[in-house]
Amino acid sequence: MGIPVGVIGASGYAGGELLRLLTGHPVFDLSYAAASGRTHGEQDPALVSVHPSLRAGEADHRMGEGLRLSRVSATEAGRRCAAVFLATPPEVSAALAESLLDAGVEVVIDLSPAFRLRDPGLQRRWYPDVRRRGDHDAVCGLPELNRGALADARLIAMPGCLATAAILALLPLCGLPDLALTGIVIDGKAGSTGSGDRLRRSALHAARSGVVGPYAPAGHRHSAEIREALQARGLTTVGGALRLGMSVFAVNLVRGVSITAHVLQDPAADKTGDVDLTQLFRQAYRDEPFIRIRDWAAEAVPLPDPRIVLGSNYCDVAAFRDADANRLVIIAALDNLIKGAAGQAVQACNIRFGLPEVTGLAALPVYPS
Ligand SMILES: NC(=O)c1ccc[n+]([C@@H]2O[C@H](COP(=O)([O-])OP(=O)(O)OC[C@H]3O[C@@H](n4cnc5c(N)ncnc54)[C@H](OP(=O)(O)O)[C@@H]3O)[C@@H](O)[C@H]2O)c1
Repeated sequence: MGIPVGVIGASGYAGGELLRLLTGHPVFDLSYAAASGRTHGEQDPALVSVHPSLRAGEADHRMGEGLRLSRVSATEAGRRCAAVFLATPPEVSAALAESLLDAGVEVVIDLSPAFRLRDPGLQRRWYPDVRRRGDHDAVCGLPELNRGALADARLIAMPGCLATAAILALLPLCGLPDLALTGIVIDGKAGSTGSGDRLRRSALHAARSGVVGPYAPAGHRHSAEIREALQARGLTTVGGALRLGMSVFAVNLVRGVSITAHVLQDPAADKTGDVDLTQLFRQAYRDEPFIRIRDWAAEAVPLPDPRIVLGSNYCDVAAFRDADANRLVIIAALDNLIKGAAGQAVQACNIRFGLPEVTGLAALPVYPS
């Protein structure tokens, strides 16, 4: 018998990816799916009518017509599920997580930003409208950062897609105390699914097609969670707290994010000039099933590129030194709906239930796409 799991926010982009991954998962049984009911007014539509791509073949009854999209009920979720994934807006997650735990759900895995920031002051500054309920401390769900804490977690907060790429790009530097950092600037590029399936003027084809548009030139919310995660691992800039900023552009992709971290150094104090960065990153991630260190010189096409990870739970990373500008340049790419959302949430849930963390996540990328 499998482990029964549910998805709330199942009509959205991240929720749809969760349904797809859970349908093919050999241990988790998709037992409950819900949303607000605003978009699909009809009483409990079949999931395959909300996500036609998930319909099974004529002789295959994996998803079939059976599962329906219901309105949210914490009691019902508690009755049916050991774990519930929340792929909802942060205000909704903040209100729902506690009710689900009270209703008997063993673990809630939240994909929204509601519980990501540990510091309450930062939470008030970056998410003033999100009121967390309850007194459960959330555990950060990024396996490469926090695997050990997931085994007995009840509330797991998954990082954002850009934050995941940036943290994975910068984490190996936490082991280099002599870097003499003066600042880090992250340049992010995001595809259109990164901001959900709500209708907005900026999301119309006419506005979005062909775009290379500044979307958050400064003050992107993910910069707070990146800073918090890396500072907790001891990464600082010369003279004190970590100076780290991020600019994000909307680009002409449906899926995928790419980040470039420009890591600025004080040349007079830096003692890491001889470090082989590719080897450093390979060593740091040698036991990680979903990180691929790319070697620029050895690849047929320049990588990392979001197109080379699409459909998979991989994050590709490459690191370079630009001695003329006293900077390191680290590039990371991932599929925002998989390693940036649903895939790594399933990875965290695998760890939480003691399963091999690659379970149900073995698909290789789709290319060309
Ligand atoms: N998209 C990404 O790349 C990505 C990556 C990482 C994390 N995330 C996070 O994941 C969450 C979902 O993102 P998304 O892109 O999938 O958004 P989305 O496509 O807009 O989907 C939002 C989902 O939440 C449901 N919802 C909204 N209000 C609700 C309510 N009051 N009660 C119950 N369900 C409600 C919606 O249901 P209805 O259709 O019925 O309204 C829909 O199923 C967000 O917090 C986002 O920050 C997204």
